[in-house]
Amino acid sequence: MKTLLVGYRAQDLFERGRRGKTSTAAWVDGDVTCHTLDIYHRHAIEKAHHVKAVCSAHLPEGPWDVVKFKTGPKLMSGELALDLLQEIHLLKPRRFELDYEGRERDRNDLLAKIKDDPARVRDFSAKWKASVPGIAPLEFTSVPGCFCHRRRDEGGLALAEVVSRELRGKGPLRLLDMGCGCGLVGFLVAAAVPGVSLVMVDSHARAVEAANMNARNFGVEAEVILADGGTPARMDGTFDVFAGNPPYYSDYRIAEIFLETARRALKPGGVCYTVVKNEAGLKPVQDRYFPSTEVLHRRGYAVLKSVRAASAE
Ligand SMILES: C[S@@+](CC[C@H](N)C(=O)[O-])C[C@H]1O[C@@H](n2cnc3c(N)ncnc32)[C@H](O)[C@@H]1O
Repeated sequence: MKTLLVGYRAQDLFERGRRGKTSTAAWVDGDVTCHTLDIYHRHAIEKAHHVKAVCSAHLPEGPWDVVKFKTGPKLMSGELALDLLQEIHLLKPRRFELDYEGRERDRNDLLAKIKDDPARVRDFSAKWKASVPGIAPLEFTSVPGCFCHRRRDEGGLALAEVVSRELRGKGPLRLLDMGCGCGLVGFLVAAAVPGVSLVMVDSHARAVEAANMNARNFGVEAEVILADGGTPARMDGTFDVFAGNPPYYSDYRIAEIFLETARRALKPGGVCYTVVKNEAGLKPVQDRYFPSTEVLHRRGYAVLKSVRAASAE
């Protein structure tokens, strides 16, 4: 019996033993594949379980005997839940189970939305515009799950504005946009600064999908990489500029992965820019990776600028 798990994290598949040891839960038995949208979750599952894990922007083709979907308002946006539910519906599994973390009423609402009109396939992508001074607005495409869907992020925009202002007239340059989401920062900078070549990295398969769509729509050549540990070693020391708008939900753990990547990826003399709402927490962290950090304020955000030392640290 082939089972596909959707929306599950590594901790959902564990059972804690008496001696504090963990093993794969009994219900995760047989030929089980666990789908993840973020490569970080795929790695976490692979590390701890004997369960196949795949990371992709869309659900893997079946045939599936059973599809189990874990969702709820605290786990993902309602639009992403609906989008995944629609994909499951189109896979036509022999059995479907919804593992809903939330109110019964919301669970029924979600199911009703897909049952209303099973023949209708909804397109959940969105188009919205963003620009920096000196360029015509770019029309971005986003999809549920990628950052930011349906709107630009003000922190990302502040970062794009500062970086493009600082780089104007300085091309050709090689820019690494880490945690690119749908590509807001990288594509705006590339439009404002002639001669910028782009590499983009994100751990989320839907972000990579959206960044690739935007590269095609804008006619920009960009290498877009799905990774949770930065750029490949072959790219070490090859970038002039690093730009990152890291998530801050895990304290500064992810910001540190970004800064570690920046330090490795930049050439000596290369410049690292990050953005945060309030610099008090991030500045001491960034100071550990670079000799010094300057703070540039924009749109109520702080852009933190550091230069990699000219000689090897
Ligand atoms: C705050 S969003 C910024 C998106 C975009 N740069 C912007 O400013 O609109 C942070 C992004 O970092 C990505 N991310 C989180 N952890 C990551 C990691 N370890 N490696 C690469 N990207 C990561 C998330 O998937 C998300 O797209």
